[in-house]
Amino acid sequence: MKLNVAAVRACYPALADGYAYLDGAAGTQVPVSVIDAIARAQSAGLGNSGGEFPASRRADAITADCRAAVAALTGGDPAGVILGPNMTTLTYRLAGTLASGWRPGDEVVVSRLDHDANVRPWVQAAERADAVVRWAAVDPATGELPADQYRELITERTRLVAVSAASNIIGTRPDVAAITSLARDAGALSYVDGVHATPHGPVDVRALGADFYATSAYKWSGPHIGAVIADPALLDSLRPDKLIPSPDEVPDRFELGTLPFASLAGVSAAVAHLARLADLPDTPAEGNEADVTAPAFRERLIASMTAVQRHEEELFEVLLAGLDSLPGVRTYGRAASRTATAFFNVGGKTPQQVARHLADRKVNVWNGDNYAWELAGALGIRESGAAVRAGLVHYNDSSDVERLLSAVAELAG
Ligand SMILES: Cc1ncc(COP(=O)(O)O)c(C=O)c1O
Repeated sequence: MKLNVAAVRACYPALADGYAYLDGAAGTQVPVSVIDAIARAQSAGLGNSGGEFPASRRADAITADCRAAVAALTGGDPAGVILGPNMTTLTYRLAGTLASGWRPGDEVVVSRLDHDANVRPWVQAAERADAVVRWAAVDPATGELPADQYRELITERTRLVAVSAASNIIGTRPDVAAITSLARDAGALSYVDGVHATPHGPVDVRALGADFYATSAYKWSGPHIGAVIADPALLDSLRPDKLIPSPDEVPDRFELGTLPFASLAGVSAAVAHLARLADLPDTPAEGNEADVTAPAFRERLIASMTAVQRHEEELFEVLLAGLDSLPGVRTYGRAASRTATAFFNVGGKTPQQVARHLADRKVNVWNGDNYAWELAGALGIRESGAAVRAGLVHYNDSSDVERLLSAVAELAG
């Protein structure tokens, strides 16, 4: 299957503003079907959850659909999908909950590849519990996070291993399955940050061996919602702080206050949209209806996300070769397996100057460490403003790449 990129782009009203949106790693645009789903949910009338009247039932049905959609996207169990405002908030919450069982001398393993949202919550929780933090290192030359080092890092005292499924700045996809397997063998839990990985290809939380898998819908064409996927039985063994009268069942126990129901309808529509990407008609007449619980739906999603991955890889080859061919341009990261995320500097210019120049040429990119604080330090560029990130997602096309390359060429040399 091949993406019809023109048809994909036609689903996104925001892309009509003439900018090349290479900022998808920080948040994607949303298709009409997501915008419509949110508007429809609000228009239909929404009550709070758990009531006896139709508007409340609609809110509960939206929440259940959303859990099922996120489970279909990640290969998880709907009963183990925790919903919340974003990954960072959910991770702090789970770190606090898990750390309440840690004892002095227990150990936690974090990595220098990760976004700080999968580092600091664990480091701070460990400090409070007098637990020891052990660090997995990145090879700065290649950007790899070698899985072998975890044989030394994980001990019988390890309680948790936090690792990213893909770096948000250099795209490295570590061997997560090998790392989580070492954690499991030692009786430790694994917390996998899938925020950057999820939009770039098929995800199977079971194959990854992740006890917890975190993702954020706004990175894959949805609204600003985060989710953590876990085995409901594992969640059942945990006692987060909560209000006495709020639901005590799993996964609701982990969700604080009222969920943003209209946005959750948008999340389900985003998953339905991803599943359709590989066979969109030429006209952007998208329906929303999809039975996300049908086995065929997950198969379609996998086929669609496989096509997305191929599309991004093809474009990325051109993008990376183009950047590498420009004099004075330095790109970071050479991992064998990586997402289509470029991180680069232009000699004699600060990352901010480059980003501003690109914005003047109608190219959206990010500059800075993008919260990959430890990795920017390991690459030795944190203090100098880090670098410029240009990331590809399913709706980017060759004209976006060409515009980036010709705008960077104006500065290079
Ligand atoms: C890899 C990665 N992890 C975590 C986060 C934090 O996600 P959220 O904004 O949902 O808290 C981001 C956001 O950019 C990210 O790219």
